Amino acid sequence: MGCNSSTNSNTKVASQEVDYFLTPSEIQIVRESWAIVALDLPATGLHIFTRLFEMEKDLKKLFRRLMTQTESGEFIFDTVRLEQHATLVMKQLGQAVDNLDDSTHFSEMLTILGEKHAVYNVRPEMFPFLWPAIRDGLKMRLGDKFTVEAELAWKHLYDYIISKLSEGIERGRPKPKKKLRLF
Ligand code: HEM
Repeated sequence: MGCNSSTNSNTKVASQEVDYFLTPSEIQIVRESWAIVALDLPATGLHIFTRLFEMEKDLKKLFRRLMTQTESGEFIFDTVRLEQHATLVMKQLGQAVDNLDDSTHFSEMLTILGEKHAVYNVRPEMFPFLWPAIRDGLKMRLGDKFTVEAELAWKHLYDYIISKLSEGIERGRPKPKKKLRLF
């Protein structure tokens, strides 16, 4: 991990930007490989989400809005909606790549997206489940170019993204109501 920023025990996770997670050479690797991945976002995204739901069946229930109900009452994914959603998530990855030089503004956008995920009932501990599926999707697109170094660079970018999303979930989580003291 990059860990380029100076940290001390008072540094909050919230202040960590993308250059804390990736070294300059990892940033370069991510940029170069994104140019290939970006050639087909819908197919890569669909591959990633198909893998996610194969591996983590329990997560399906969070995505009811992307499903239709069959006559027998079974919920199945609507491929068009799932592909649209997968493309949206891929575009978010692309924005992270576009903001590698200075992530301050983008970090706030990710935190706001995290707040939305709190409403979707996503918990921070679920985010690591998506990484193996993203890794598979990248491998499918990049082939031999998905080296050990490339995998680590992408993992570090994902760590940055989920740290900001998780911050947003914490921020968006309903606060326990304070008890009124009548006396
Ligand atoms: C295990 C990990 C994750 C889960 C379970 C999850 C779950 C969800 C759910 C349930 C929705 C709402 C879908 C709908 O009803 O339309 C959603 C939306 C979305 N997610 Fe995630 N998500 C995860 C990770 C991520 C990551 C890592 C990113 C970014 C790279 C991301 C980006 C988005 C975007 C852009 C939307 C659409 C937001 C909107 O409504 O405007 N998600 N996610």
